[in-house]
Amino acid sequence: MKNLIYLVVAIVFLTSCTKDKTTVSVINNSCTDTISFSNQILPMVQTYCISCHDYGNSTGYILTNHANISANASLVYNSLLGSSVQLMPKDGPAINDSLIKQFSCWINQGKQNN
Ligand code: HEC
Repeated sequence: MKNLIYLVVAIVFLTSCTKDKTTVSVINNSCTDTISFSNQILPMVQTYCISCHDYGNSTGYILTNHANISANASLVYNSLLGSSVQLMPKDGPAINDSLIKQFSCWINQGKQNN
Protein backbone atom coordinates (compact mmCIF):
# COMPACT_ATOMS: atom_id res chain seq x y z
CA MET A 1 0.00 0.00 0.00
CA LYS A 2 2.80 2.39 0.91
CA ASN A 3 4.52 1.70 -2.43
CA LEU A 4 1.32 2.53 -4.27
CA ILE A 5 1.14 5.89 -2.54
CA TYR A 6 4.75 6.62 -3.52
CA LEU A 7 3.91 5.69 -7.12
CA VAL A 8 0.90 8.04 -7.22
CA VAL A 9 2.96 10.87 -5.73
CA ALA A 10 5.71 10.26 -8.29
CA ILE A 11 3.25 10.34 -11.20
CA VAL A 12 1.61 13.57 -9.98
CA PHE A 13 5.05 15.12 -9.52
CA LEU A 14 6.31 14.11 -12.98
CA THR A 15 3.20 15.25 -14.85
CA SER A 16 3.16 18.61 -13.05
CA CYS A 17 6.77 19.23 -14.11
CA THR A 18 6.00 18.84 -17.81
CA LYS A 19 3.49 21.70 -17.59
CA ASP A 20 6.18 24.12 -16.43
CA LYS A 21 7.95 24.47 -19.78
CA THR A 22 8.37 27.91 -21.36
CA THR A 23 5.52 29.09 -23.52
CA VAL A 24 7.57 29.96 -26.58
CA SER A 25 7.39 27.47 -29.41
CA VAL A 26 10.36 26.35 -31.48
CA ILE A 27 11.28 29.05 -33.95
CA ASN A 28 11.88 28.31 -37.61
CA ASN A 29 15.21 30.00 -38.28
CA SER A 30 15.38 29.76 -42.06
CA CYS A 31 15.19 33.21 -43.62
CA THR A 32 15.20 34.20 -47.24
CA ASP A 33 15.33 37.99 -46.70
CA THR A 34 18.30 39.89 -45.35
CA ILE A 35 17.38 41.30 -41.96
CA SER A 36 18.07 45.01 -41.50
CA PHE A 37 19.54 46.10 -38.19
CA SER A 38 18.29 49.67 -38.43
CA ASN A 39 14.82 48.87 -39.79
CA GLN A 40 13.98 45.68 -37.89
CA ILE A 41 16.29 44.81 -35.00
CA LEU A 42 16.81 48.23 -33.44
CA PRO A 43 13.10 49.19 -33.58
CA MET A 44 12.18 45.89 -31.89
CA VAL A 45 14.66 46.52 -29.07
CA GLN A 46 13.50 50.13 -28.76
CA THR A 47 9.87 49.04 -28.52
CA TYR A 48 10.22 46.15 -26.08
CA CYS A 49 13.49 46.51 -24.20
CA ILE A 50 14.92 50.00 -24.01
CA SER A 51 12.63 51.19 -21.24
CA CYS A 52 14.66 48.98 -18.88
CA HIS A 53 17.93 48.59 -20.81
CA ASP A 54 18.97 52.18 -21.50
CA TYR A 55 21.78 54.11 -19.80
CA GLY A 56 20.92 55.12 -16.27
CA ASN A 57 18.89 52.10 -15.21
CA SER A 58 20.22 49.30 -13.09
CA THR A 59 19.72 46.11 -15.12
CA GLY A 60 23.40 46.13 -16.16
CA TYR A 61 22.56 45.32 -19.78
CA ILE A 62 22.61 48.37 -22.05
CA LEU A 63 20.88 47.63 -25.35
CA THR A 64 20.96 50.87 -27.31
CA ASN A 65 23.05 50.38 -30.43
CA HIS A 66 24.62 47.89 -32.82
CA ALA A 67 27.78 47.45 -30.73
CA ASN A 68 26.10 46.54 -27.46
CA ILE A 69 23.23 44.56 -28.98
CA SER A 70 25.57 42.46 -31.12
CA ALA A 71 27.97 41.91 -28.21
CA ASN A 72 25.07 40.40 -26.20
CA ALA A 73 23.25 38.80 -29.13
CA SER A 74 23.16 35.18 -27.95
CA LEU A 75 22.09 36.18 -24.47
CA VAL A 76 19.40 38.44 -25.90
CA TYR A 77 18.15 35.65 -28.16
CA ASN A 78 17.94 33.23 -25.22
CA SER A 79 16.10 35.84 -23.19
CA LEU A 80 13.50 36.24 -25.97
CA LEU A 81 12.89 32.49 -25.75
CA GLY A 82 13.17 32.34 -21.96
CA SER A 83 15.68 29.56 -22.55
CA SER A 84 18.38 29.13 -19.85
CA VAL A 85 17.97 32.82 -18.85
CA GLN A 86 14.96 34.78 -17.67
CA LEU A 87 12.27 35.45 -20.28
CA MET A 88 12.36 39.02 -21.60
CA PRO A 89 10.55 41.42 -21.69
CA LYS A 90 10.62 40.95 -17.94
CA ASP A 91 7.41 39.37 -16.64
CA GLY A 92 6.41 38.58 -20.25
CA PRO A 93 4.56 38.02 -22.43
CA ALA A 94 7.18 36.93 -24.97
CA ILE A 95 7.35 39.04 -28.12
CA ASN A 96 5.88 37.74 -31.34
CA ASP A 97 7.48 34.60 -32.83
CA SER A 98 8.14 36.39 -36.13
CA LEU A 99 10.21 39.04 -34.31
CA ILE A 100 12.18 36.35 -32.46
CA LYS A 101 12.81 34.66 -35.80
CA GLN A 102 14.08 37.94 -37.26
CA PHE A 103 16.52 38.25 -34.40
CA SER A 104 17.76 34.72 -34.91
CA CYS A 105 18.18 35.29 -38.65
CA TRP A 106 20.07 38.50 -38.00
CA ILE A 107 22.55 36.52 -35.86
CA ASN A 108 22.83 33.78 -38.49
CA GLN A 109 23.47 36.41 -41.16
CA GLY A 110 26.48 37.71 -39.24
CA LYS A 111 24.89 40.42 -37.04
CA GLN A 112 25.23 42.97 -39.81
CA ASN A 113 25.16 46.69 -39.07
CA ASN A 114 22.96 47.46 -42.06
C1 HEC B 1 10.34 45.97 -17.29
C2 HEC B 1 11.77 46.06 -17.44
C3 HEC B 1 12.45 45.19 -18.48
C4 HEC B 1 12.12 45.06 -19.81
C5 HEC B 1 10.99 45.73 -20.58
C6 HEC B 1 13.13 44.20 -20.38
N1 HEC B 1 14.02 43.81 -19.41
FE1 HEC B 1 15.65 42.61 -19.66
N2 HEC B 1 16.04 42.68 -17.69
C7 HEC B 1 15.35 43.44 -16.76
C8 HEC B 1 15.96 43.25 -15.46
C9 HEC B 1 15.51 43.92 -14.18
C10 HEC B 1 17.02 42.33 -15.64
C11 HEC B 1 18.00 41.80 -14.59
C12 HEC B 1 17.57 40.42 -14.19
C13 HEC B 1 16.49 40.48 -13.19
O1 HEC B 1 16.77 40.88 -12.05
O2 HEC B 1 15.34 40.15 -13.50
C14 HEC B 1 17.04 42.00 -17.04
C15 HEC B 1 17.94 41.11 -17.61
C16 HEC B 1 18.08 40.90 -18.95
C17 HEC B 1 19.07 40.06 -19.56
C18 HEC B 1 20.07 39.20 -18.82
C19 HEC B 1 19.38 37.90 -18.48
C20 HEC B 1 20.20 36.99 -17.64
O3 HEC B 1 19.57 36.13 -16.99
O4 HEC B 1 21.42 37.12 -17.58
C21 HEC B 1 18.89 40.12 -20.90
C22 HEC B 1 19.69 39.42 -21.98
C23 HEC B 1 17.78 41.01 -21.15
N3 HEC B 1 17.30 41.47 -19.94
C24 HEC B 1 17.28 41.32 -22.39
C25 HEC B 1 16.09 42.00 -22.61
C26 HEC B 1 15.49 42.14 -23.91
C27 HEC B 1 16.06 41.61 -25.20
C28 HEC B 1 14.32 42.84 -23.73
C29 HEC B 1 13.29 43.21 -24.76
C30 HEC B 1 12.76 42.15 -25.56
C31 HEC B 1 14.20 43.14 -22.29
N4 HEC B 1 15.31 42.60 -21.66
C32 HEC B 1 13.18 43.84 -21.72
C33 HEC B 1 14.29 44.27 -17.01
C34 HEC B 1 13.64 44.40 -18.24
